[in-house]
Parts: sequence; C-alpha cells; structure tokens
Amino acid sequence: MIEELYNDYYKYADFYDIFNKYRNYNIETRFILNMLKNKKRVLDLGCGTGTHLNILENLGYIVEGIDLSEKMVMLAKEKVNGPIHVANILDYKIDEKYDGIISMRSVFNHLKSYEEFEKALTNSLDHLNINGIMIIDLDNRRSDDDVYDKVDGNKRHLECFYSDKYNMQIRTSFFNIGLKEFIFEHEYFIYEKEKLEEILDKYNLTYVMLTNYLKQHANNFSERIQIVIKKK
Ligand SMILES: C[S@@+](CC[C@H](N)C(=O)[O-])C[C@H]1O[C@@H](n2cnc3c(N)ncnc32)[C@H](O)[C@@H]1O
Repeated sequence: MIEELYNDYYKYADFYDIFNKYRNYNIETRFILNMLKNKKRVLDLGCGTGTHLNILENLGYIVEGIDLSEKMVMLAKEKVNGPIHVANILDYKIDEKYDGIISMRSVFNHLKSYEEFEKALTNSLDHLNINGIMIIDLDNRRSDDDVYDKVDGNKRHLECFYSDKYNMQIRTSFFNIGLKEFIFEHEYFIYEKEKLEEILDKYNLTYVMLTNYLKQHANNFSERIQIVIKKK
C-alpha cells in the first residue's frame, strides 16, 4: 500500500537524513561560518533533524533550534545538546536574543505569502541582537523538471509543477525505501527578488542576496538565494 503524506514532515522526518546523506553540508557550513564570523549564540529556524546545529555546537557555538514538526524536533534532540522547541517561525517567542539566526534549505518557502514572509522576518528581527546576522536560504527554482535521486538503493522521484500565477511550486515526491512506498506532497512559495527587496528595504537593516553558498550575487535565475541580513 502506498501511504500519502501531505505537507506533513512527520513520516518524512524518518528518512530525511537518508536522502541528505551526500548533501554538501561542508559548503553550507563554510558559508554560515563566514557570515556569522565570531558570533556566538545561534538560533536555527526550521532546524529539521539538527545537522547544522550539531556542526555548530561541536565548533563551540551556543545553539538553539525550532521546528514545526514534532518528529523533526525529536530527531534533532538526539544530535544536539542545546534546546530545540516545537514552534512556528511566524510567531515563536523565546526570551532570548541571538547573535545569529539561520534558516537553511527552503524553510521560508513553506510560507504562503509575502505577508507571512514579513511576519516571520520581523519576529526574527525581534530575537536578533544589534549587528546580529540572519541567513534565509531560499529555493528559487521555477522549473517543472523532475528530479531523480537514488541513495544506497533508496529512490526518490520528485515531480514538480510550477504555477506562475500563484508563485507556487507543487512538489510531489514518490519514495521507495526498502519495501515501503510513500508519497510526500508539499508546496513551495517562490519569491520574486524585487518584492523581497521592497520588504527588506522597510526595516533598519542591511542585506545582500547571494547564491551557491558563495559571495556571488543572486539574480532571478539563481537556483537558490541566500539572503544575508545585518540588523542595525
Ligand atoms: C526542507 S526542511 C529543512 C531542514 C533543515 N533546515 C535543513 O537544512 O536540512 C524544512 C523544515 O522546515 C520546517 N518548517 C516548515 N514550515 C515551518 C514553520 N512555519 N515553522 C517552523 N518550521 C517549519 C519543516 O518541519 C522542516 O523540518
């Protein structure tokens, strides 16, 4: 029987790390470290299974994370000593301020509109120290191309459908893991760079939009965009 999961990381969480086994965490970590420089206290928004937090904690950072999925939080707690909470990036409240806030791999693409982006942004700015750095790593793909992954015999076929009208990419993943088959469907809100700039320009901050986890400037055709924000 094929199980169908919609926008629910509960079961996907169990095999998230399987399909990220060969992901280049080194380049992402180097980017984060470059941007955070000597910042000490870091919050990860949508921390997933906690891999970035685990790496940062081992490097001496004081870390904390939030994720909407209870299962992700459970898995992250196995890797990380710092506190991890079940919370929404839209309205989390932690009685703490951070030198760095990171949000890696498309967490903000799970939001539904520019209004939600702004809400999550301002909520995070409230949790950031002056001169603190925030990194928002966005998926910017507008293609309908399918993606096929095979990791240690486990397969994923990702079917994408992009709607220009709604700025939405509907992503359906068909997983074959051992003898199990799953379908996981979720939607990504794909942002227009200029509209993000309009929002960011309203606040007391400086920012750059980079790509490839390098100091390369992003454009509308970049596959991913990393917004690096400094609070004034
Ligand atoms: C693609 S995963 C990225 C996980 C991790 N940051 C990484 O780099 O691998 C997206 C994560 O965002 C979480 N998420 C989605 N919407 C969220 C929200 N509104 N608030 C908090 N977490 C959210 C999901 O539960 C999931 O763990």
